[in-house]
Amino acid sequence: MFKLAVFVSGRGSNLLAIASSIENGYLNAEISAVISNNKDCKALEYASVKNIKNFVVSSSESDKDFISYSDLLVQLSELNIDLIVLAGFLKKIPNELIRNYKNKIINIHPALLPSFGGKGMYGSNVHKAVFNSSVKVSGPTVHFVDEIYDNGLIIDQRCADISDVTTFEEIAERVLKLEHKLLPDVIQKFAENKIRIYQNRVFID
Ligand code: GRF
Repeated sequence: MFKLAVFVSGRGSNLLAIASSIENGYLNAEISAVISNNKDCKALEYASVKNIKNFVVSSSESDKDFISYSDLLVQLSELNIDLIVLAGFLKKIPNELIRNYKNKIINIHPALLPSFGGKGMYGSNVHKAVFNSSVKVSGPTVHFVDEIYDNGLIIDQRCADISDVTTFEEIAERVLKLEHKLLPDVIQKFAENKIRIYQNRVFID
């Protein structure tokens, strides 16, 4: 089975979209671990209820209630994780983890990269910036994670017409709906080994 570790900081709707795609047989994978930096987030509750291994991570080695990234690396390797999915994870992933999982960490971003990305561009900040820019389309991007925020190669995107919106919340709603389909779609392609990098572009076979 194709094994996922899903990193989440907040609401966790993308985690639930992955889980329901698995439950309804569309996605051939298993959520083997849920990791968060926020011990009170809904995603951890969900993981505990479903008996999925879960970890609260901290960058500080001295934080006793949390697992350090170096210990997490050991856990992930014991679990034989195939793909790390950042689904609303707000912290920077340490370079050591990125090096160990080269081209095996993906992130979902709620705008059409390379626009509206980078440090500080998360949550409603993104949708407000999109709204204020007066662009006519927005949509989610799934990309590989490298050492720079929102910078890795783009794997797939979806587009929503936002020409008629009057609030940034409407953009958020339309984009989130697309995210819940796009992320399981992309993960399934990874599980089928159909993602290919060629000449700095990503192909989905
Ligand atoms: C999503 O909009 C995702 O694109 C971004 O963070 C949000 C997470 O939402 N990276 P949720 O926690 O999955 O509901």
